[in-house]
Amino acid sequence: MKALKLSSAITTPFAVVGLSSNMGKLRIESGGIKLNEKELLEILKNLSATGKSDEIVKVPFSKPQTIFFTGLGESQNSYDAETLRRAAGSAARALAGQSSATFALPATSLAQISAVAEGAALGAYAFNEFRYSTKSEFKEPLEQIIIATKSITDASVKRALIRAEIIARHTATVRDLINTPPSHLTPDSFTKYMKKIATPLGLKVEILNEVSLKAQGYGGIIGVGQGSANPRRLLRVSYSPNKSKARFAFVGKGITFDTGGLALKPANGMEAMKSDMSGAAAVIAAVFAIAELKLPVSIDAWAPLAENMVSENATRPSDIISIYGGKTVEVLNPDAEGRLVLADALVRAQEVGKKAGGLNGIIDVATLTGHQVVALGTRTSAVMTNDHDFSGEFLTASEKAGESFWPMPLPEELRSSLDSPVADIANIGDRMGGMLVAGLFLKEFIETDLPWLHLDIAGPSYNEATPHGYTPIGGTGIALRSLVTLIELVSSQPARNKK
Ligand code: BES
Ligand code: MN
Ligand code: ZN
Repeated sequence: MKALKLSSAITTPFAVVGLSSNMGKLRIESGGIKLNEKELLEILKNLSATGKSDEIVKVPFSKPQTIFFTGLGESQNSYDAETLRRAAGSAARALAGQSSATFALPATSLAQISAVAEGAALGAYAFNEFRYSTKSEFKEPLEQIIIATKSITDASVKRALIRAEIIARHTATVRDLINTPPSHLTPDSFTKYMKKIATPLGLKVEILNEVSLKAQGYGGIIGVGQGSANPRRLLRVSYSPNKSKARFAFVGKGITFDTGGLALKPANGMEAMKSDMSGAAAVIAAVFAIAELKLPVSIDAWAPLAENMVSENATRPSDIISIYGGKTVEVLNPDAEGRLVLADALVRAQEVGKKAGGLNGIIDVATLTGHQVVALGTRTSAVMTNDHDFSGEFLTASEKAGESFWPMPLPEELRSSLDSPVADIANIGDRMGGMLVAGLFLKEFIETDLPWLHLDIAGPSYNEATPHGYTPIGGTGIALRSLVTLIELVSSQPARNKK
């Protein structure tokens, strides 16, 4: 996707129009753009169109030359943002290979127009980086997205388009990094890729290499990465606007590949573990978007990066490591590695936050547990917290962003299962409720009065099934939009006192 534009009419050969159904009766939803509905409805009926979500029916026509009818589901007087986002995304995917298309969907409010723009831009994505002899068989994403609306001179609508482009471009960065295989994405190359984007945005970048990590006592990152030939890193990207209403820290799990270490994962499905850096990519790219949107909130994003491999140097079950700051962990299972690298970064992020005058909150994002997928499936992520006001704000933001998150508890009674006979804590506890146990482990590294969110995105970060709505196969970019929307929400409120 290269550009988004507004138009009051359909002037391109390709148009996207909504199709809904009211008790089996089809309804064309073009948002007020005039079409020969009678003739089109006849054609749609003959084609057995249903108007169900994710249905695309291509109708050759005269003007426009081809109409892509995209399903909106049950007919409504007014469609919610996520329905429009998905319908636009589905159509954009179907338009791969084309240079431009006009989206005429039933969107009148600013939120609806934004959703159409966002969905279309997010759907216009493909990852063909590694094709060579088959490259020509794969289409490039739709290049130009034109949104048909009557409010083409409205400044807020123009801003919404700019925002949609920013969101989509940085989501594409997250997806690209997730889709890049571990042969080409190492902790070091991850930092270089991100630095290239961060520097022109005026962001401060700090990269700790393995020598500094060892010298400063980052035992989690060191331990997890010690079986790999690819050296570990700790990346920090800082955004400090002149006017700042609040300060947050984001921390993302950055395991560029998770074999499980000596607790080796079965070969079947291990390939999906190239996505184990989804949290790191999401938090860094979210800061890119926040900076580009010039939001008045300071953020430090942290990405502890390592590759969890098997070798004679790999961490053994029963090894004890020291997390940054000194707390010791008995590594009973080297496949529970995410929490170890996160602990290092969480402690450091809080230390830096304190020096900067305090934080208003800290959020970690991680593909942390298979239990998350068992509990909530592949399209709903989990939120755990020590502060229900903060998680409430986040859930409001994620709902607005169209990302599905659900609150999960951190039951105190599970905590003792993490007790170790020899160290301060063990890295695994009860198997039952494993997602919550992982959350409780992280909580040990959070200062008691600091609002904290733990987002487990194990399932939703990587789509192994079929594309749907604006979600492609592979990396999805989940969490970025919720984080950006949360910071937009904070930006619209009075300045906060820091902890
Ligand atoms: N990266 C995995 C979690 C994961 C599983 C992400 C499936 C995406 C899809 C994590 O490092 C892991 O291996 N977790 C273990 C923890 C266990 C050893 C306590 C798990 O969930 O099995
Ligand atoms: Mn693991
Ligand atoms: Zn992992």
